[in-house]
Parts: sequence; structure tokens; C-alpha cells
Amino acid sequence: MIVNISLPDNTTYDITIDTLSKLYFDRKVVIVTNPTVSGYHLEYLKERITAKELSVVTIPDGGEEYKNMQTIETILEHCFEQKLNRSSLLVAFGGGGVIGDMTGFAASIYQRGIDFVQVPTTLLSQVDASVGGKTGINNKFGKNLVGAFHQPIAVNIDPFFLTTLPKREFGAGIAEIVKMAVTFNKDFFEWLEQNDLNDEENIKTAIAKSVETKAWVVSQDEKEKGIRAALNYGHTFGHVIENETNYDTFLHGEAVGIGMTMANDLAVRIGNMTDKEANRIKNLLEKYDIPTSYKIKDVEDFYEHFFLDKKSLDNKIKFILPKGIGDCEITDKIAKNDVIETLKGF
Ligand SMILES: NC(=O)c1ccc[n+]([C@@H]2O[C@H](COP(=O)([O-])OP(=O)(O)OC[C@H]3O[C@@H](n4cnc5c(N)ncnc54)[C@H](O)[C@@H]3O)[C@@H](O)[C@H]2O)c1
Ligand SMILES: [Zn+2]
Repeated sequence: MIVNISLPDNTTYDITIDTLSKLYFDRKVVIVTNPTVSGYHLEYLKERITAKELSVVTIPDGGEEYKNMQTIETILEHCFEQKLNRSSLLVAFGGGGVIGDMTGFAASIYQRGIDFVQVPTTLLSQVDASVGGKTGINNKFGKNLVGAFHQPIAVNIDPFFLTTLPKREFGAGIAEIVKMAVTFNKDFFEWLEQNDLNDEENIKTAIAKSVETKAWVVSQDEKEKGIRAALNYGHTFGHVIENETNYDTFLHGEAVGIGMTMANDLAVRIGNMTDKEANRIKNLLEKYDIPTSYKIKDVEDFYEHFFLDKKSLDNKIKFILPKGIGDCEITDKIAKNDVIETLKGF
């Protein structure tokens, strides 16, 4: 299945969800990957790429820890050593967000910008991170604070890669799938309630549906001036949880699972959603062992943490609150007291 993204500036590319077919490039290609993904799947990918010259740069696998400028330097140095020129191409192979975001960022600055292709291998990246052109790295001031919008020229999603993905990583990806359904697509949510994503055909359908949703959102609002912010549902709370636990307790998608549960509680509190709807979402998350609870030690401190998020730099907290299931609102007008009451329940 192919989903197309078309941006207002006429940038367009295909997202292919299928067994990887042969990729032909009449230019130099560098694959960026990590030891985990290359150990499982590099041969499979190399067999399917034909290029003028092909080389591989392997960067450390450590989640957020190596998503920094030093690793970008490693990628760029490899590109210079291989004498890449402005028509050369990078392939982000695997991980998800981590390799994808860094490869995209390196591609955006190498000789002022070269092409790149995404071949995501985590569920999270297949349904979310590889699509939409947000690239970047972390620094001591926070996550993803340095980066660029740089769209890939193609995204190739092969569900076969998921066969080696650890169960927890799979659940983290499902959290982002649930996010897409709750914010934009009631029919998809009901389908998720009725179908098991451990089934090969079903996961393919769920990836396609999520990618369609993300492509539809990004096509309208590439730079997140409006509707794209809805994809941060669960993330306002989730980022605080990740930060409070030093990024070493929950996977990103797991923190988002808890965050969505918190956002739902707030949505119920202000009359946006019923208890019953909030419970349906919780049940769906728990079906895949995605955490929905978290012990908040200090409610006021948790609240203050919201303001460290880059999206709250103007001293307003932006919440994405579902309106029932399949619709949502983006608001910075929630009374502190309502938020505090929600936090007290956790
Ligand atoms: N650009 C965006 O729009 C966007 C959206 C969401 C998240 N992100 C970013 O994505 C990152 C999280 O991505 P992630 O969850 O994919 O984490 P990740 O890239 O760290 O991958 C998770 C782990 O799974 C391993 N792995 C990857 N594919 C595998 C496979 N097929 N089999 C076995 N192991 C495999 C990796 O080596 C890694 O250890 C965060 O940095 C986040 O900021 C970006
Ligand atoms: Zn996310």
C-alpha cells in the first residue's frame, strides 16, 4: 500500500507499506544504522539496494543518550570521508526516531542539505516518527531542541522488521497508534478495539491507517502552526514523566500511554469526554501492557515541570484534550486547578 504526502510547497513523497522491494539509486548512498538493527537486518537491506557506491556508518544504540551533536559529527565525518556530494543520499535504517531524526538532521545540514530516505524498523517509527520531516537532536536544555524540518524523499515501511522488535517496544508503538485514532478517527478506534494487533495482517492495516492520518495532518500543517499539535496528545504529560524519571524508566510510547490517560482524566473533568470513553481508551492501552498509571510524588512540582517543555516557553501550557473519541481540541486555557485535581488522582 502507498500513502502519498503532498505539502503546500509542492514537496511530495510516497510512504510504501509493504515488503521492501529493490531500491535503485544512481548516486552515492550512505546507510546510517546502529549495531542492534544492523545485526538483525543490514544484510536484508543491502541485498535490496543498488547504488553507485554504498557504505555504512554505525552509530551507538543508546536511545536518547547518543541523540546529540557528537553523533551528528560522526555521521557527517563519514559523509566527507566518502566524498559525498550534493546529489548523494542518506538512508536512515532503523531505530526509529533516534536514527531517523539524526539521519534527517545530518542530511539537512550536509553541504546545506541532501536527500534522505527513511527505512524505519520500530513500530513507533513506522507509524509516526519516520513520516513528516521533523528531524533533530537533544542537548542539555532538553529533547529535540535543535533540528530542522527536512522531508525524506521516500519512506519504506516493511512490517517484516517488527518480527525482531522486543515486546515493550511494540507496545510503545501501539500507544502512538491509539493516539492517532483517539484524536482523529473514531472508526479506526473501534476497529482497534475489535482486532488484535499481534496479527500480521492487522498490524499492517494499523500502520497504514496511522500513516494515512499522519500524512493528512502533516499535509495541512507541516510546521506545526495549528492542527499538527494534536499529535502531541498525551505528550504534554508524557514529557514531564520522561523527564522526572530521567528517560530511563519508561519508553517514550509508554510515557505517552500514561500521558493520554492523564489527558483523558482532564478531558472528563472539563466535560469533553465521558468516563466510559476514557475507560475504553485505558482498556485498549492495557490490552497491550502499555502503562496507564504513575505515582506522582509532588503535584506542584509536576505542574512546574510543564513550563520546561519547549512548547510551553511562552508560559502557557498547551493541552491536547480529546472531545469524545475521534476528535480533539488544542487549548491553552485550562484552569490550573483542574490540572492539579487531575494530577492528584495519580
Ligand atoms: N520526528 C518525529 O516526528 C518523531 C515522532 C515521534 C518520536 N520521535 C523520536 O523517536 C525517538 C524514539 O524512537 P523509537 O521508539 O523508535 O526508539 P529507538 O530508535 O531508540 O529504538 C528503540 C530500540 O529498538 C531497537 N530496534 C529498532 N528496530 C529494531 C528491530 N526491528 N528489532 C529489534 N530491535 C530494534 C533500537 O536499536 C533501539 O534499541 C525519540 O527520540 C523521539 O523523540 C520523533
Ligand atoms: Zn510520541
